[in-house]
Amino acid sequence: MSVTTRKLIEWKQQGRSIAVLTAWDCAIANLLDEAGIDIILVGDSLATVALGYKNTLPVTLEEMLHHTAAVSRGTKRALVICDLPFLSYQESIEMAVRSAGRALKEAGAQAVKVEGASPDILATIRKLTAIGIPVMGHVGLTPQSVYQLGYKQQGKTEERGEQILQEAIAVTEAGAFSIILEHIPSDLAAKITKQVPIPTIGIGAGSHCDGQVLVTADLLGLSKKQPPFAKTYLNLRQIATQAVGEFINEVREQKFPH
Ligand code: KIV
Repeated sequence: MSVTTRKLIEWKQQGRSIAVLTAWDCAIANLLDEAGIDIILVGDSLATVALGYKNTLPVTLEEMLHHTAAVSRGTKRALVICDLPFLSYQESIEMAVRSAGRALKEAGAQAVKVEGASPDILATIRKLTAIGIPVMGHVGLTPQSVYQLGYKQQGKTEERGEQILQEAIAVTEAGAFSIILEHIPSDLAAKITKQVPIPTIGIGAGSHCDGQVLVTADLLGLSKKQPPFAKTYLNLRQIATQAVGEFINEVREQKFPH
């Protein structure tokens, strides 16, 4: 049975943890889906992981839609979420409606993700949910604000912690079905998770969230550089480099094809 936004909220109520991974193409999406992942996020980390940009800012809506469509084609069960990229939703509510609408209409996503909780973003979440577009929020470290926040942990002071808690509550009240908590202290994530009725999905936010997300390239060991909170389950880069090396040698020694 396919994963729905309603199911995710039921899982929170039942204490069933939610597993989320990112994907950028059909093959990876199909692998994650068949392994039983609950949510596939076409994160704007696509910018650094697959497109070679130095941060997430340059990735365009067209690029996100192209990759989201490929992910949707490879997915049967998981909920597919398209991360709206920088400047595809911040300028106006009309722009956000058009971008989010295209993610569902043209790329087959079932929801979109937006970063932040400013009054404009909250109005955008309200509008999108009012017209039937499910929205995932994202607070704490928000990489689209890298030039304001850097990549350091957020919410370490009491004041900033309280601000992030209030942002999570506001995003929930605006209608989001779930919220990413990125790089905040574990006790703050636990407090938010207790206070909001929607599932919290943590990344670098400790073990008390309703679910966890990782960038799949980090999990598989494909990234050259990764955040300190990521866990590498496999060194695919090393294994793949060895396999490619064997192929090169066999071609040069005329052993392939046999
Ligand atoms: O872009 C992304 O991959 C993300 C996750 C790290 C949450 O936003």
